[in-house]
Amino acid sequence: MKTQVVIVGGGPSGLLLSQLLHRKGIDSVVLERKTRDYVLGRIRAGILEVGFVNLMREAGVAGRMDKECFVHDGTVISYGDQQFRVDFEDLTGSHVVVYGQTEVTRDLYDAREAMGGKIVFNVDHVEIHDADTDTPYVTYDMGGTEHRIDCDFVAGCDGFHGVSRQTIPLAVRREYEKLYPFGWLGVLSETPPVHDELIYASSERGFALCSMRNANLSRYYIQCSLSDDPEDWTDKAFWEELKRRIPAEAAERLVTGPSIEKSIAPLRSFVTEPMRWGRLFLCGDAAHIVPPTGAKGLNTAASDIHYLYHGLLQFYETGETEGIDRYSEKALARIWKAERFSWWMTNLLHRFPDQSDFDLKMQRADIEFLRENREAQSVMAQNYVGLPF
Ligand code: FAD
Ligand code: DHB
Repeated sequence: MKTQVVIVGGGPSGLLLSQLLHRKGIDSVVLERKTRDYVLGRIRAGILEVGFVNLMREAGVAGRMDKECFVHDGTVISYGDQQFRVDFEDLTGSHVVVYGQTEVTRDLYDAREAMGGKIVFNVDHVEIHDADTDTPYVTYDMGGTEHRIDCDFVAGCDGFHGVSRQTIPLAVRREYEKLYPFGWLGVLSETPPVHDELIYASSERGFALCSMRNANLSRYYIQCSLSDDPEDWTDKAFWEELKRRIPAEAAERLVTGPSIEKSIAPLRSFVTEPMRWGRLFLCGDAAHIVPPTGAKGLNTAASDIHYLYHGLLQFYETGETEGIDRYSEKALARIWKAERFSWWMTNLLHRFPDQSDFDLKMQRADIEFLRENREAQSVMAQNYVGLPF
């Protein structure tokens, strides 16, 4: 088989890229290790930047999102018994939207199917060959048979545990990583959200976040130990712990119910450089991870796709390679700023096991400065709503 772009990974990054390319007449094949239902079963991000929404519109898949999403003009930050609001609209003239990654992915799968897009599920042993030449190709197993696709370019959109990043030789690749000594226990429940905006809560007992997916679907997180198992946490224990960490009046009106999903995610900052090797381009979690505080994970994947899509478009329309040649540099310049923001917000709001009394005072001073200082809030708001592409 032959195509123009092989896209390894059928998560949001890979699907969005294939949809954008398709609309410009550029042919691609998406190779996904799992099934569609498995991918849609993963509960992940919920907050989208306007830049992401615009890219979905450009891809012609924003119809349902535009109808069903919630616009959020601000967020609440609480610490101890105090709280304040950061007004994104007032500070930046922009906002974020609430629309789950599951729905984004579903809309993209539906659009790819409707347009006859090629997505191969259940592939095994994907290998990228000759990426440093002008004639790369990709092989994979399916149903016990090996298949080969020749192509012009390979987009590595296969997440943190994929094969694409590992294809870049160690002599070329440099990785930067920071692990945090805690995780997030997340619960999804069919209950009305406790507040009409998100609440990021720093408490003596650790961080908590009140988020949502829609008017009757809430998403809550609490900082937990890395050694915890989701099974260790009964629903009752989760709700009790959440209530202790959020403002008292929010705890009082919190509607609890059975969890329909419960999982623990470790927190990590990670960047690999460069994001391009020959004709292989890394996008999204394949190249970088942020800790979830600040909701930048999916949004950084979208900016990669924006840069790569425009680079490939320029190549196919004019033969110019400037866009693809500068892909890694442009993507990384934005990524590092999102890494900084997520690292800062994680440090601001979590309890660390080895924190001294001095460290706690520094954290408190940082939060109070944010509360009292419009410029500090403006810096936070600009980063939260998303830096320009
Ligand atoms: P992925 O979504 O990981 O998609 C990669 C795809 O590639 C997967 O479908 C995978 O099955 C496939 N794949 C992997 N290896 C291969 C292979 N060898 N061959 C073929 N296919 C392969 N971000 C937020 O902003 N907010 C959150 O609350 C949040 N929560 C998260 C919770 C968890 C547990 C995780 C892991 C991430 C979370 N994120 C969150 C981050 C966000 O979900 C990711 O940034 C986003 O999914 C990145 O999309 P992606 O398409 O680059 O990668
Ligand atoms: C969600 C996740 C985040 O990491 C965040 O900062 C805000 C919201 C969520 O899953 O809804």
